[in-house]
Amino acid sequence: MTADLFSPTKLGSIALKNRIAMAPLTRNRAGQGNVPQLINAEYYAQRASAGLLITEATPISATAHGYPATPGIHDSEQVEGWKQVTAAVHAKGGKIVLQLWHVGRISHPSLQPGHALPVAPSAIKPAGQAFTYEGLQDFVTPRALSIEELPGIVADYARATQNALDAGFDGVEVHAANGYLLDQFLRDGTNHRTDEYGGSMENRTRLLLEVTKAVVEVAGADRVGVRISPLNPFNDISDSNPQALFNHVADSLNPFGLAYLHVVEGGMGGDNLPAFDFAALRRHFHGSYIANLGYDKAKGNAAIASGHADVVAYGALYIANPDLVARFQQDAPLNAPDHATFYGGDAKGYTDYPTLQG
Ligand SMILES: Cc1cc2nc3c(=O)[nH]c(=O)nc-3n(C[C@H](O)[C@H](O)[C@H](O)COP(=O)(O)O)c2cc1C
Repeated sequence: MTADLFSPTKLGSIALKNRIAMAPLTRNRAGQGNVPQLINAEYYAQRASAGLLITEATPISATAHGYPATPGIHDSEQVEGWKQVTAAVHAKGGKIVLQLWHVGRISHPSLQPGHALPVAPSAIKPAGQAFTYEGLQDFVTPRALSIEELPGIVADYARATQNALDAGFDGVEVHAANGYLLDQFLRDGTNHRTDEYGGSMENRTRLLLEVTKAVVEVAGADRVGVRISPLNPFNDISDSNPQALFNHVADSLNPFGLAYLHVVEGGMGGDNLPAFDFAALRRHFHGSYIANLGYDKAKGNAAIASGHADVVAYGALYIANPDLVARFQQDAPLNAPDHATFYGGDAKGYTDYPTLQG
């Protein structure tokens, strides 16, 4: 029988009851101290019929933050808060991994400890504005990290991974997508370094590989995924040769034997994207592959039937459809997402989307 979205599978050691994943979605509804609340547990538990839930991007340290009310994984209160989430998801038979996040330059001094400058591979200011507690404010020119600081960042990823395991997560996903710190190192639009972390593709991939190694040492490769977005211009990022770079990234990740590679197969905003062959990228990676961006039920089933993807992640559809699996199974109509309540607020547009049962 051909596999489809409803067939069980395994990503590393994580057993999935179906191949439908909830994509990581920042929702800015953590409580004081960036601690997950009961409402966050309710939100994730409502979606526990997915084969895999990937949490919203979760800052690994105080300097990793770049948005208001994003739940962290760097102190004990946050770990306690996340325990409510994992327990609620597991009680409903779901699986959940935490997305490990450092925003790099996509931040603002008002969100940084001591109002310091955000950090980045190079001192290049992003175009655009940061979301802060005081509203939108222009991005600033970040401070380039010294080479001596990089082991400390790798150690923050390792500590955050241990915290995630302590909080009861089934695994972690390294966020190397969407213009945040690891992606800023990967792509040459944002990485102008002249040391061994800049210049060649090998050098620009070095920090991602060091982080992946450290995270794998804590969690085991069979519980670690990596997310990349080769074309996404989001957060003012670009690369002069994305196909070569990300084929190299996939090749370099192979020796770890990761649970999965998760690929955002296009751009969020911005036209005129360079040509990119995602099937070729997929062939470079020897493990399981999660495909994302613009999938619906038919495209998801086609990607699985053709062997392109092992699992398909849904973003916007999961915001609005807590019972997406049942709706796909029954070919039921889908709720439309309310963009006004994506980022921040309360239960409205968060935990109040109706299921088929009402
Ligand atoms: C409200 C919102 C928040 C998002 N937050 C994250 C995030 O925290 N981490 C991440 O890697 N991607 C994030 N994304 C991107 C989604 O994971 C996904 O790649 C995107 O929505 C495309 O998938 P879709 O077409 O199924 O919606 C976010 C997208 C949206 C709409």
